[in-house]
Order: sequence, then C-alpha cells, then structure tokens
Amino acid sequence: MRRAFGDAVAGTDPLLAPSKDPKFGDYQCNAAMGLAKQLGAKPRDVAQKIVDALSADVRAMCASVEIAGPGFINLRLSDDYLASLAGSIPPGGGDGDGDRLGIDRVEDAARDTVVLDYSSPNVAKQMHVGHLRSTIIGDSIGRVLEFEGHEVVRQNHLGDWGTQFGMVILGMWHAAMARQRGEPPKYLQRALGELRTAVAGGPDMKRAYLKAVAERSRAEYQADPDGRRVFEPFLEECRSAYLLSLDDIEAGYLYINALTKEAEGTEFAADLKDPKDVAQMMQRGGPQDTQERLAREIAIRITLAECNRVYRRLGVLLSDAHVRGESFYEKLLGGTIEELKAALSAPKSGPDGIRAVCRIDRGAVCVFIENADGSPVFKGPEGESLPMLIQKSDGASLYATTDVAGGLYRMAHATRHPIRLSSRTLNEALAGLGGGLGATRVLYVVGTPQRLHFQMLFAVLRALGWTQLGGGRREVRLEHVSFGSVLGEDRKMLRTRSGENVKLKDLLDEAVARAEEQVRTAEAEPDRRRGFSDDEMRDIAHKVGIGAVKYADLCQNRNTDYVFSWDKMLALQGNTAPYMLYAYARIMSIYRKGAESGVRTSDIEKAPIQLDHPAERALALRVLQLPETIDAVAENLLPSLLCDYLYDLAGRFMTFYESCPVLQGGDPALQASRLRLCDLTARALKLGLGLLGISTVERM
Ligand code: ARG
Repeated sequence: MRRAFGDAVAGTDPLLAPSKDPKFGDYQCNAAMGLAKQLGAKPRDVAQKIVDALSADVRAMCASVEIAGPGFINLRLSDDYLASLAGSIPPGGGDGDGDRLGIDRVEDAARDTVVLDYSSPNVAKQMHVGHLRSTIIGDSIGRVLEFEGHEVVRQNHLGDWGTQFGMVILGMWHAAMARQRGEPPKYLQRALGELRTAVAGGPDMKRAYLKAVAERSRAEYQADPDGRRVFEPFLEECRSAYLLSLDDIEAGYLYINALTKEAEGTEFAADLKDPKDVAQMMQRGGPQDTQERLAREIAIRITLAECNRVYRRLGVLLSDAHVRGESFYEKLLGGTIEELKAALSAPKSGPDGIRAVCRIDRGAVCVFIENADGSPVFKGPEGESLPMLIQKSDGASLYATTDVAGGLYRMAHATRHPIRLSSRTLNEALAGLGGGLGATRVLYVVGTPQRLHFQMLFAVLRALGWTQLGGGRREVRLEHVSFGSVLGEDRKMLRTRSGENVKLKDLLDEAVARAEEQVRTAEAEPDRRRGFSDDEMRDIAHKVGIGAVKYADLCQNRNTDYVFSWDKMLALQGNTAPYMLYAYARIMSIYRKGAESGVRTSDIEKAPIQLDHPAERALALRVLQLPETIDAVAENLLPSLLCDYLYDLAGRFMTFYESCPVLQGGDPALQASRLRLCDLTARALKLGLGLLGISTVERM
C-alpha cells in the first residue's frame, strides 16, 4: 500500500484476514474500499494499484492474486510455498514440552512488560466462579504473552483491605471468646445460624438475641480490654495450630456483617464494636494494631492456602510470590490522595481529551471525569456526574484509591519510566517500594460488573499523565479484560441446589469424578476398552475433568455469559476438551503405529511434505496459521480464538484422515509426508492446548 500510494497511507490497516470461503483464496485484503474513499479514487483501481505494487516475495508465495467484487483482493498461496513452509518447521524433539513449532518470539523493540492482574480473590472468602473465570482466562493470557516473548509480571491483587477486614477480625474475636467459653469448634457457623433464626422469628426474638450477645460481648471486652489476655494468645495459637478454617473465617465475616446490620440504630450497637472502627484503627495504626495485624496475617494465610490448593489443581501458574494484595499499596495511599488533590486541583486532560478534576464533595475526596466541554463522562440515574471516590468523609480510603496507587506502582519505573509526581510523600513511598514495575501494558482480568470502575480508573490514570511513555510518544496500554457470568442451567447465576455459592473445590472434584466415571464406563465395555491401569485412568480423569472446565470457559468469547453444563463440557463431540484431547491422542496413536511399522522418526522428520490432496493442503495451511492465531490472542486477549482454531484444526485432521490413507499408502515418500502432517498437527494441538493451560494425554 505504501509502495502504491506513498507514506500518507502508512499505518492504514491492510485488513488482511483469512478468507471465510476457500473460493476467495486463502487470504483477503479488504483495504481498497476504505483507501478509495480516503484517496477519492475507484476501489477497484486502488485494488489494482496495490496488486501491481506487490513485491516479488509476495508474488512468489501466491498461486494467484485476484481482484473480486467492489475491490477485494484475494490471495491464494501456492502449494509449493505451503509445502516448503510446513517442511521448514523444525522437529519437535522428544515429548514436545517446550516445543515452539519454530515460532519466533517478538522482536526486542516490540517486547512488552505486561502486568497481569488476575484471580484476585478476597481474603476470608471462598473463591467464587467469577474468580475461577479470572484465574483460567488470566492464566491462558499469561501463557500466550510469555510464549510471544513478552515479560509477564503476574499480580494477584488479593482483597485484603478495608471495612470488610474489620468484620473479619471482629469475627475472629468472637471465635476467640467462644473458645475461651469452651464452646466446640464451628462456633461462627452456629452463631450465624442462630442469628438468622432469631431474625426470622420476629422483632422480639431478634431483640432478645441481640441483647444476649451485646451483654456477653460487653463483659468479654471488659474482661480483656486490651486483648492481651484472650485475643492475642488465641491469635498466636492460630499461627501454628489449625484453629480456624476458611469456612470459619467466612462465617465470621457473614456473622458480623449481619450482626452489625441488625444492631444498627438499637441500644445494643454500642456494645457490639463497629467493624468500621476496627478497620480504621488499623489504617491509622491504633492501639490494638499488633493484634489486628496478626489477625489479618492469619486470615490471609488461611485464604491463600485454600487458593493455592485450587491453583495447583487447576495447574495455574500462580503462587504466593505473585500476591500483591491491596494492603501492599498501603504506604502509597496517603500520598496518592495528596497527589490527586494537587495534580488535579484544576482539570487536567489525558491524550484522549478526557479530563479529570479532584474536588471535595461533602467531605469526601472525589475525582470527576469530564469531556473536553466539561460535561460528565459518567452519569448516575439522574444525569448527575458520577465521580470516582478516593477518600470517604471519615478518612477511609477505598478500592479505587488502591487501584490508582497500584496503577502508579505498575507503570512507573525508576529508569525506564520515571513519573514526575507533585507529592513528595508519594514519591518517597514509591521509591520505598522499589520504584515500580515499569509495565508497558497492564491487564485487569475482572468480570464485567466492574467495567465502570476500570473505565474511571483508566481515565484518571491517563489524565494524570502517568501512561505516557518516552515523553508521550507511546502510551501504556491499560486494558480491562472483562468477562461475563457463569450461569446455571436455569440461566440464573450458578448456585448450588440449596442456593449457595458453588465452591470451586467441589466443582473441580465433581469435574474429575464425572470424567473418571466416563473413563471407567468405557473401560467396562469390551469394544471400547484400552486396558488402562488405575493410575492411568486417574491421570486421564484429572486432565479431562480439569481440562473440560477450563476449555468450556475459554472457548466462549469471554464477554458473553455462558451456561455451565456438565454434559456439554464433557461431551466427546463438539468444541470441548474431551474432543480436543481425544483428537490429540488419536493422532499420537497413528503416529506411533506408523513409527512401529518401520518408518523411522528421523525419516518422517525430514520427509518433504506433499500437498496433492485438498485435505492435505487444507490441513497444512491450518497448521501454518497457528502463529498468527497466537498473535491475535495476544493482541485481543481472546483465548476463544485459539479454541476456534484448534477445533477447526482437529476437524481438518479428521477430514484428512478419512480421505488420505496414512498407514496403508504404498508409496513410502507419501506415507512419510502424511505422517509428518500428523506429527505437525499433534504438535500444534499440544502447543495450543498448552497455551490454554490444558495438559494433553498420550492415550485416551
Ligand atoms: N478482589 C476483587 C474482587 O474480587 C478483584 C480485584 C481486581 N483487581 C484490581 N486491581 N481491582 O472483586
């Protein structure tokens, strides 16, 4: 395009994509229509000029270049070119781990430092399916970006800060008192049940319950006013003994939440400590700081232990080393508020013209986000401007404050991306944390309900000028990798039969159990039996079960909600993990048989590829499209593109296998070529599934 029309069209998207229909060749370039408008010329003439300007290299790749319709350019690659390209893929070597199929990494200049915020569960709560989606999608994106050669800095933005923490700690206090009274374990679950019963029993019952708890609590506070006698020893003991489970802690949180709500406005509220005070006291370093920090530490440890179990089962690349919880940014919060007040005292515009201005509104620190004409970008139900809340009137910081501070930490870098700040406090605090991660791309893998939060956050970070790299020549890419909900078969949010949140552990257990049942059923049928040992069956069940859950999630465009269906995700037919894994295992067995029948692996690996049959050509073309598919996933952060690719690849393989005898073919050269196509297909499947975080099995 540049050769035909000069530098004026540099940067115009060539709109080059695989053709939907083989009638139109292998690739289509659809840029001529848009260019024609821009240049005031006829589209077909523009297309012709582009074609005339094609380099000798491109000509040599193509069997034909045609202009069709209003100005589509259809390119058909030559069979020789495809065969030699496929033939140039280096051998896989051994078990195929670390096999890249000869795909290059991005050049140094294009290498991003990507901060990948994913999973990010909340302390004292079981991960829910939303976190499962974040974990699975984020993990795949991390693998893809790393494969491309980018530096990926994983950040598990654990929710471990704020008022909710006050509730967790209060819950632990109640657990400590109950233990002191000699109550059996699981006190908090029981207390929660009793409270709910009392509330359901009407005002009198509720009053009586609150009264009893308030009186007892007051006496217990008085007996241990500074916590040194009972609470602190309890916490110390928790460090080494398993006194509280995540379920206990979660129940404690729910209990205090409900208790506070029910007691609000009654004479009992005073005796039931306000969780907000607890959280605030910690933020300011109050007298009970040590205990509360200890309590926090314990809650975090118990939560992470549970998360790590889920991560390990899922085979996800997350460990404690990646945890950068909200509390990590504590030291930046004060400076961040100061900075926003100073830097945004007057409206400041980002590169997109969106401006941000910080104002105090009824005692709260707010950042208002405006269009260039001063009209609000985000509006509430009555058309009023919706600000981003940075500090509440009571002095507490918020989720958004942490994310602004986190944005700074993630993008700034002492040498690669120094960010000039107005607040000295912030500058020093940032230096204290090492100066920042220097991200050139920051990804937040979080569900769609938080879309507004991230839109506001990105607008504020841009307006502050923090996203400008190299003096504004380039922008840090901030992206909300959003995803929809997981629905039950009733199309409502996925719940257990009794209406509770589904626990991930149970869900994964069930996936593996169902997969195991399938394997065992097949093994019990004489004509399906493979003779697997118990260990093999368990390994297959684990990989198929976990793979099925992951694949079912990844194969949908992430922004759509999807219905969670065991039958669908475990089906051996369709765009499912079992189908993909089976296709892989089947190809491996063909390949193995070929190798056993006397063809040496080294011969196959060097065999020239012949693409005489259309099915051979279609298969080879698809194998060769793996790199551009991975590029597209890295760019659009859509693992579903990779699933679509793999599903189509497996389908093309089946067609090839039906129409092109691999092992019965007489000609050894043809047999070797076809075996090599099998090998390449299997390796492409394995590589692709690996990038989705799914392990293959050799036999199934
Ligand atoms: N913990 C949050 C939640 O469960 C998700 C955090 C996402 N990351 C962030 N930087 N805000 O909703």
